[in-house]
Amino acid sequence: MKSQCADLSALDRLTASRYTSRAYQSRTVDHETIRSIVSMASRSASWCNVQPWKLVITANEESTAHFRQALVDHAANSSAIDSDLPFPPGYQGVHAQRRRSAGLALYTALGITREDTERRASQAFENYQLFGAPHVAIVTVPACLGSYALVDAGGLVAYFLLSAQAHGVASTPQAALARHARFVRSYFDIPDTEHMVCGISFGYAEDSHPVNQFRTSRAPMDELVRFV
Ligand SMILES: Cc1cc2nc3c(=O)[nH]c(=O)nc-3n(C[C@H](O)[C@H](O)[C@H](O)COP(=O)(O)O)c2cc1C
Repeated sequence: MKSQCADLSALDRLTASRYTSRAYQSRTVDHETIRSIVSMASRSASWCNVQPWKLVITANEESTAHFRQALVDHAANSSAIDSDLPFPPGYQGVHAQRRRSAGLALYTALGITREDTERRASQAFENYQLFGAPHVAIVTVPACLGSYALVDAGGLVAYFLLSAQAHGVASTPQAALARHARFVRSYFDIPDTEHMVCGISFGYAEDSHPVNQFRTSRAPMDELVRFV
């Protein structure tokens, strides 16, 4: 019973404290820690245990810096969506509201007004700078496995974020990188038989940065579950 309580409070702490970091220290994460994060993340469930996910991780400063520069150069010259997976055509109703309030929290933390489209665009472009993170993981699944491989990949991503948090490592799941999936796959020699799901930038958070000061909220339970 005692260890059950310890597990519960540890999980409660981890899920409550994890957030999407958008500013990092330059300090790299040591290789053993990265391996431990991946090892724990890979315990995520998958349909028939096929474990369809694959990760490419920039393991050191030089490799991340090189990719960051290439991505920035590419994204600066091509804004079109070139993703492997269709991007949402738009958000309506409650989804649009939640998206708006998350964006508002972010821009308010940075003192960026609704009218300041230039600073908004420049903050969005920070995605391609990997928000200054010293590492990035690229998550892919085989194209031939269809939608359920994406469900499996979502599980892996969630486990990765939590496992990173348990190691004191902050993270940023990034669909923005998948906008340039063809470029990213080509950069890392990932064949087109794989579909890029997202990137996850990670490292040690710059805790004092204003962008890391806000937290998002969650819908009340009644909005997400119907007990019958
Ligand atoms: C699949 C996925 C893609 C995301 N893509 C981006 C992204 O491209 N850029 C970004 O800044 N945040 C991105 N996020 C982070 C979300 O904005 C964030 O998870 C959400 O606002 C909830 O906030 P929290 O993670 O701090 O709890 C993504 C999250 C997920 C799960």
